[in-house]
Parts: sequence; C-alpha cells; structure tokens
Amino acid sequence: MASGVTVAVVGATGAAGQMTLKILEERKFPVRELRCFASERSVGKTVTFAGDGVRVQRVEAPAFKGVDVAICSAGSAQAREYAPMIARAGAIVVDKSNGWRMDPKVPLVVPEINPHAARAHQGIIASPNCTTIVTVMPLKPLHDAGRLRRVVATSYQAVSGAGVQGIEALREETLAWARGEAVTPKFFAHQIAFNLIPAIDKFGEDGYSGEELKLINETRKILEEPELKISPTTVRVPVFTCHSVAVNVELTEKITAARARDLFAAFPGLRVLDEPAGQQYPTPLTVEGQDDCVVGRVREDPSHPRALNFWVVGDQLRKGAATNAVQIAELVLRS
Ligand code: A2P
Repeated sequence: MASGVTVAVVGATGAAGQMTLKILEERKFPVRELRCFASERSVGKTVTFAGDGVRVQRVEAPAFKGVDVAICSAGSAQAREYAPMIARAGAIVVDKSNGWRMDPKVPLVVPEINPHAARAHQGIIASPNCTTIVTVMPLKPLHDAGRLRRVVATSYQAVSGAGVQGIEALREETLAWARGEAVTPKFFAHQIAFNLIPAIDKFGEDGYSGEELKLINETRKILEEPELKISPTTVRVPVFTCHSVAVNVELTEKITAARARDLFAAFPGLRVLDEPAGQQYPTPLTVEGQDDCVVGRVREDPSHPRALNFWVVGDQLRKGAATNAVQIAELVLRS
C-alpha cells in the first residue's frame, strides 16, 4: 500500500462530501486515485481535490472496481441500496448515513471510543449521527471513570447538519429579513432565521423525533451499554456550523467537576475551555473548523450528589461527519 489506495467519495457534492474531500487532503490520507460520485444531476460536474478537478461519476457497480475504501454521505435510502453493491465490488464502505448504523452486523464506530468494533466489519462500517458523536465523546471518559447511570441531553444543532439546503435556507431567510421582506420557509418546517425548531427528523407515536432516537440507540451501541438511560431533546438553531449539547449525567461513582475536567482534557479528540469568569467556554463560532470537540461549563449538579452538568460543542461537518469517517478509513487501512 506504499503508493496509496483508491478512494471513492459518494455524495461528493454535498456538505459532508465536500468536507470529506477537504479532510482527506488535510490528513494526507494516502490517496492514489480518487473517484467522486453524486446524483444523476451532478454527473459530469467537477469537484476539487488537492487542487485538481475530479469529474463526478454515476453510481454503478463497474465504477467501483478496484476501489479500496468508499466514504459515503449520500443519504440513508441511497446507502441501503449502494453500500452492499460497493462492498461486493471489493471496497470497504464507510457510511455516514442512518442506513446501516443499527444493523447488528455493521460496526458503529467512533475511533477514539470503540476502534475494536471496526475489526468485526463485513464490508460496511457506519459512522454515527453528528449529534451522537459530539455527545458521546465526553460521555466515554466519564463512563470509564464513574459508570454512567443516566444521561439527559439537549442539543442545539446547526443548519448545515441538514445539508446544503439547510445552509441556503438560513442564508436566504436572513437576507430576506434584512431587506425587510416577508420570510417564507422553503426547507425547514418553520422559519429558522431568528427562531428555534424543536423538531429534527420525523416524530414517532411516542412524540420523540428520529434524531432523539438516534441519540439514544447509537450512544448505547457505541458504549456497549444497551440499557443505558438516555433522555434527549434535539433542537435546530440558526447557526451555520457546529452542534452544541447541554448534558446532565448521573454517575454510579461521584466525579468532581475538577476531576471531570481532567478526564475530558486527557481524552483524545476532546479539549477543555472552562474559565467562566473570563467568559471562556466553547461556542459554535469558536469551535468551527476544529476537529476536537470542546467542553466547558463543567459543574456539579446541585440537585444530585453524583451528577454533573456540562456543555460540549463540536464541528458536526468535521468530527460529526467527515473527520470521523476518514478516521475510520485510516483505522481500516492500519489493520
Ligand atoms: P447531488 O448534489 O447531485 O444532489 P447534502 O446532504 O449536502 O444535501 O448532500 C447529499 C449528497 O448526496 C450530494 O452529493 C447529492 O448529490 C448526493 N446524492 C443524493 N441523491 C443521490 C443519489 N441517488 N445517488 C448518488 N448521490 C446522491
């Protein structure tokens, strides 16, 4: 493999796909040949990788012959159809969508947390939901040190988590508002500019949204704790990039705020910014563009002797999507 591998990026024109190309380049992933794929309407267009134009191709089995690793972010329905076909062509598929995450035969991997799970793959490895990744990163060191009993998490999620159309919606609505024009929501269920929408994904009969169920089920799978109690609320906010999560954890063993800060700081991929007196805590604008998730506002919960509150922010296009997927691909190459 000294001369590198052949990499496919499926969904290369989308928000996560574009970031994947950037991260492959930034991390000097050993790309010998790159093939890019998107929907029918983008076939023939050009995307840029390492200063070169790469022609977007149609997704069809022969185009994946000779591909070593395929990183897919083209949506769940597409992943259900494409991933087995790409794996049959001989590639290892790293899929960013919700299509395969809860399949018992498919590992769901955050490389800092459960790299061992990737070894059991049968051709497809799933990368978790962006909010799950940002939330589970600080949960892992707390769980190892004091065993989690219950997690209450409320997310503040950027519009780019909904793809390029989410970004456009916030931009257009904000410009219309600034011009004094009527704001007509065209993408989200309500106006997102200057608003909050407590609905991400479809609602089930129990009133929970798909995003909230992902946070429960995926966190349990990654931490290998199928009974862990998790109580989620997920909210779309008028922020372009970065998901923020306010988390309350109840532990089996007491962990002080000072110890929690040390545990977070020692965990790979996590950073602590927690000097409230100097107004130092993570915000979406300060964390955007970074691969680390940043934790702040770490406090002991006054309502419970073994509980903590904290605030974590992660760039969901990077660690929440592209970086995590590329890290999985690196893991696969190493093994
Ligand atoms: P396209 O740009 O041609 O629509 P986002 O989540 O940012 O909207 O991006 C979704 C990505 O998935 C885009 O690259 C999009 O391509 C791609 N995509 C959507 N539907 C398909 C499909 N049926 N086959 C392949 N790629 C698809």
